Amino acid sequence: MDGWKYLSIWYFLLNFSKKYCANMKISSFLSRKAEAVENAVKIARKYTGRRAVLSFERGFHGRTLLAMSLTSKVKPYKFGFGPFAPDTYKLPYPYYYRKPAGMTNEELDAELLRRLEDFFLSEVPAEDVAAIMMEPVQGEGGFIIPNREDPHFYA
Ligand SMILES: Cc1ncc(COP(=O)(O)O)c(C=O)c1O
Repeated sequence: MDGWKYLSIWYFLLNFSKKYCANMKISSFLSRKAEAVENAVKIARKYTGRRAVLSFERGFHGRTLLAMSLTSKVKPYKFGFGPFAPDTYKLPYPYYYRKPAGMTNEELDAELLRRLEDFFLSEVPAEDVAAIMMEPVQGEGGFIIPNREDPHFYA
């Protein structure tokens, strides 16, 4: 991309963020999503003073070391590239298509929230969590959409 095009995109985004994100004090424009993920985690850790970052099974967050560590899909993204970044943990994503037979979506949401409570007891206390990285709709995991009608999972 030539320099002028880059600057005009930057200028457009700057005005966009000033207009639509009224309370925002600082904007950071990055060239890759993996870079955005890395920086979001750095900012969250610095701000909270906490260490742990949670992400979701089947999620994809990019190809840098930290983004790859938060990524769950092993092949082709992680296979043979370890060891990965510490203090990254995976939670189950609400995957209604593969839920146990006879279970409703709401029951699956409730079960996953129960497992989240177990997770905070057995893996990382909630007080140590700096950030939770969640795709609102998973793409690489197979186009998985959480329950939006009755979003228990986001509560
Ligand atoms: C959800 C998600 N996060 C992160 C990335 C990584 O993006 P990039 O290749 O710009 O670093 C992608 C790429 O498709 C993505 O779909």
